[in-house]
Amino acid sequence: MKNPYLTYPAKILRIQKESSDSNLYTLKFEDPKVQKAFRFNPGQFVVAGLVGFGEGPFDICSSSLETGSLEICVRQAGAVTKRIHQLKIGDRLQIRGPYGHGFPMNKLANRNLLLIGGGCGFVTMRTVILDYLKKPSAKQKLQVFFGVTSERDLLFANEFDNWRKKIDLYLIASKPSAAWPHQVGLITNLFDKVKIMEKVGVLACGPPIMYRFTLERLKKLGIPDTDIYLSFERRMDCAVGVCQHCAIGSFYVCKDGPVFSYDKIKDIPGAI
Ligand SMILES: Cc1cc2nc3c(=O)[nH]c(=O)nc-3n(C[C@H](O)[C@H](O)[C@H](O)COP(=O)(O)OP(=O)(O)OC[C@H]3O[C@@H](n4cnc5c(N)ncnc54)[C@H](O)[C@@H]3O)c2cc1C
Ligand code: FES
Repeated sequence: MKNPYLTYPAKILRIQKESSDSNLYTLKFEDPKVQKAFRFNPGQFVVAGLVGFGEGPFDICSSSLETGSLEICVRQAGAVTKRIHQLKIGDRLQIRGPYGHGFPMNKLANRNLLLIGGGCGFVTMRTVILDYLKKPSAKQKLQVFFGVTSERDLLFANEFDNWRKKIDLYLIASKPSAAWPHQVGLITNLFDKVKIMEKVGVLACGPPIMYRFTLERLKKLGIPDTDIYLSFERRMDCAVGVCQHCAIGSFYVCKDGPVFSYDKIKDIPGAI
């Protein structure tokens, strides 16, 4: 039996500063066999850390069609992420995973997609976007909402021009500088400005408060709960359904999620 806790060293190939507190890391497993076997679905995560120091869960944000490397975007929040931010190109991270269930992309293959990412929650949306750019489908269009507090929090901004060739990207900031050329307000204000496509599946990742108000707007649009997929963050330890740190009702976010369709979790007290 494969030990689900086994970690594998991955070398940092590239570090890209994305925002005031987040870096994008391109990683390659040192063992070519491990790299070759590493496959994931959009919305899944890995646990990354340093031996003898600590580890934490991070969404994988590279294309799932890319097999030569993987990428994670790390926001400096506390001890582990501060240490990761001190690493240099050529240093190593220990990686385990991928874990959990991501977005049901096969089920959604013939639907248009509305992607909604708030702040750091936008990280996981990059995989869906990059996959679409690599393999666009005549049966599917993408509308993407990205909400931040200010322009300092934007992620992947140097990729937007390329994304815009094939997807509709809408940016909104609640407290931007006077020079911000996009919408100002909360991410839900975009529903007043943008006509949402027909036959749409919704993928969202962000803080609980964003979910509460976004769900109200989706309900008004008549989008069924079964077509709305939310990615959850909870404090995690084992990431394999053993320690119970990440429980939402009878579900474990690490093992049963992090992506849940809204109909599955809407009646669980405290889920949102
Ligand atoms: C499934 C999942 C995917 C994630 N994906 C990413 C990602 O792609 N990029 C990224 O930067 N971070 C992501 N996170 C959050 C990341 O795991 C934590 O920020 C990190 O582990 C904090 O470790 P630390 O030791 O640096 O900070 P700590 O000292 O542990 O915490 C610092 C601060 O961050 C808060 N915090 C810690 N963990 C979480 C969490 N899970 N949710 C909300 N607040 C938290 C703490 O309450 C504290 O205020 C994800 C978390 C989960 C559960
Ligand atoms: S993190 Fe241990 S059960 Fe989910």
